[in-house]
Amino acid sequence: MTADIIDGKAFAATVREKVAAHVARLKDAGVTPGLAVILVGEDPASEVYVRNKGKQTLEVGMNSFEHKLPVDTPEAEVLALIDKLNNDPAVHGILCQLPVPDHINDDKVINAISPEKDVDGFHISNVGLLATGQKSMVPCTPLGCLMMLRERHGSLSGMNAVVVGRSNIVGKPMAALLLKDSCTVTIAHSRTKDIEALCRGADILVAAVGRPQMITGDWVKPGATVIDVGINRIAAPERGEGKMRLVGDVEFASAAEVAGAITPVPGGVGPMTIACLLANTVTACCRANGLEEPEGLTA
Ligand code: GUN
Repeated sequence: MTADIIDGKAFAATVREKVAAHVARLKDAGVTPGLAVILVGEDPASEVYVRNKGKQTLEVGMNSFEHKLPVDTPEAEVLALIDKLNNDPAVHGILCQLPVPDHINDDKVINAISPEKDVDGFHISNVGLLATGQKSMVPCTPLGCLMMLRERHGSLSGMNAVVVGRSNIVGKPMAALLLKDSCTVTIAHSRTKDIEALCRGADILVAAVGRPQMITGDWVKPGATVIDVGINRIAAPERGEGKMRLVGDVEFASAAEVAGAITPVPGGVGPMTIACLLANTVTACCRANGLEEPEGLTA
């Protein structure tokens, strides 16, 4: 293996330290940032995420407001709760954990959140602001990827970046952020012709497709930086019957032979997502109060 391993777990810890230091300063100024998380239903994976978000919010000194609603909560009730949180001065960030049950329109929920409190960066106003290169709330996972890329390279200007995957949560905002940092950006997806050759031209390769180990070493340009956003559970019979393990969208062993740097799964992008959620909450709190924003925690 030749690639440097980008340690997302350690980097996320440094982001949380910066957030905690800024929270302490805000508290001295009489403001405590608050994050409200809404969970509708009992999806086990969502419950784990929400628990971790709440725990880490408290650990950095912020207030955490959890709203767990039954699976059959009417959409109007969720919207009414969001309206209440929009008008609550103690709440600076609001997040509704996705997916929501089928009877609830996720776009309606996302766009009901005040854009200033939309710490997910999913509101249509924030999407538009980011797409036009303006100051916005930035989706947490792509923000985490950007932070790791800036840490590794300093300036990204002029680099060829290929983002594999076109989701609203990762692929599209990732491409917008890389473009804002003056990369030459291509978004590849399931219909892209000769995707391997395209990827081989990338100085920065971001994989966000949700297909286990799809990208192999022969897709990677020697020395490239590979950011693996995928978190896929696959069978691991070598660990015993019925056992599973986590893998990314990149086949780590072969890609690490060729890349200059690579994020592992687990321990790469994953830990950065919640750290960036905390960073976004501090940013939202500073903006709401007309206070100076922390350095290095925004795009
Ligand atoms: N579900 C999976 N990832 C996310 C995320 O980043 N934000 C929200 N709100 N829900 C999610």
